Amino acid sequence: MISQQEYQSRRNQLAHKLPQGSVALIPAAHEIIRNGDAHYRFRQDSNFYYLTGFNEPDALLVLIAGVENQSILFNRLRNPAEEQWTGKRLGQDGAVSELGMQAAFPISSVEEELPKLLNGKSAIYYAFACNPEIEKTITNTLKTLKNQVRRGVKAPDQLCDLGPILGEMRLFKSEAELELMRRAASISVKAHEQAMRRCKHLEHEYQLEAELIYEFSRHGCRSVAYDPIVGCGENACVLHYTENSKPLHRGSLVLIDAGGEYENYAADITRTFPINGAFSPEQRSIYELVLKAQKAGIAAVKPGLPWNKIQEIMVRILTEGLCSLGILNGDIEELIAKEAYKPFYMHNSGHWLGLDVHDSGLYKINGEWRALEPGMVLTVEPGLYISANIPGVEERWWGIGVRIEDDVAVTKTGHEVLTAALPVEIHEIEALMRD
Ligand code: GLY
Ligand code: MN
Ligand code: MN
Repeated sequence: MISQQEYQSRRNQLAHKLPQGSVALIPAAHEIIRNGDAHYRFRQDSNFYYLTGFNEPDALLVLIAGVENQSILFNRLRNPAEEQWTGKRLGQDGAVSELGMQAAFPISSVEEELPKLLNGKSAIYYAFACNPEIEKTITNTLKTLKNQVRRGVKAPDQLCDLGPILGEMRLFKSEAELELMRRAASISVKAHEQAMRRCKHLEHEYQLEAELIYEFSRHGCRSVAYDPIVGCGENACVLHYTENSKPLHRGSLVLIDAGGEYENYAADITRTFPINGAFSPEQRSIYELVLKAQKAGIAAVKPGLPWNKIQEIMVRILTEGLCSLGILNGDIEELIAKEAYKPFYMHNSGHWLGLDVHDSGLYKINGEWRALEPGMVLTVEPGLYISANIPGVEERWWGIGVRIEDDVAVTKTGHEVLTAALPVEIHEIEALMRD
């Protein structure tokens, strides 16, 4: 649970990062029609949620930077008739009393009120290229102000990207955020364990997906953080396979990449295991190699480590291992230099994790890979994917796709693996699947 004080202090912090005389506009998400009268499940905009903790659609946060910075919310009017159908709304009084806003107006009055708030300001900050409607609102507001110049009105003359500023704030998690991420992680651990335990009774990829979703939901992850990937055999080699419709073949591996979302915070976990509960010699060789790379990648995580070092460490281990198995041949340094591992490992070591599964925050600063710092949370997720169509690879390796992914918080002295409770060793997985 994140306190209202924490949301308020985030707004203050953001206001202090902006030049005097500027205004930040942060829109909420809208409800989106799925088909007919049915909507997609509502998911709040991450930037808006980060600054307000407010989960209703159709709202706009206006942050005025200045000596006494102000948070003003435009949100939906209370409407008993509509609330009878769709549930209670906070309204403007609630925005002031419960969210600590200095003022609140109905969202329907944006066109009328926003020009008054922006009159005389120098810059408008908003997240570029995220929300076409806010761009339209800004254009309309500027038009209104420019039409009034003869009356002494002054329109802002700078548009600035808020994304990177907010992205940097979101990159460093508070203790309260880490608590929510631990919860998302531990529920997701339960879901993966359930999938491993239930596998022997199941026939199709979507039945494993059903076990995951059951476990997420019943422990309070009301949504997935992203569509689960459940790929059996060759499907495991498709990195973002979400069709999840094919039969589970005894003798194949299945790759499950799934994470729950808890109070809008994501977990992101991948495990790979044999459908029949026992790794074949080839599956074991590839799995152990990926696990060795992942352990070394995680072990390196500590403050000061440059972001790209994790990938470098893992690429070296994977390349050496592929040579030992006879899948690659040649001098290790040359193979790494010419990226000979790429047909088998074509993605990066991971990404930031938080309110978004691929969370905000830069990876390079002034052209250099940034160093890890306490409070950052990242995934470490090496893989090897041996599709049948890679030339020169013996048939016995075909259709083996392995990824192992855990969520890691950088601490003052090293790291904390948020998903450490989930079995990852072969003997642990085989024992759990026999349960
Ligand atoms: N689940 C998406 C990813 O691992 O990046
Ligand atoms: Mn990931
Ligand atoms: Mn993942």
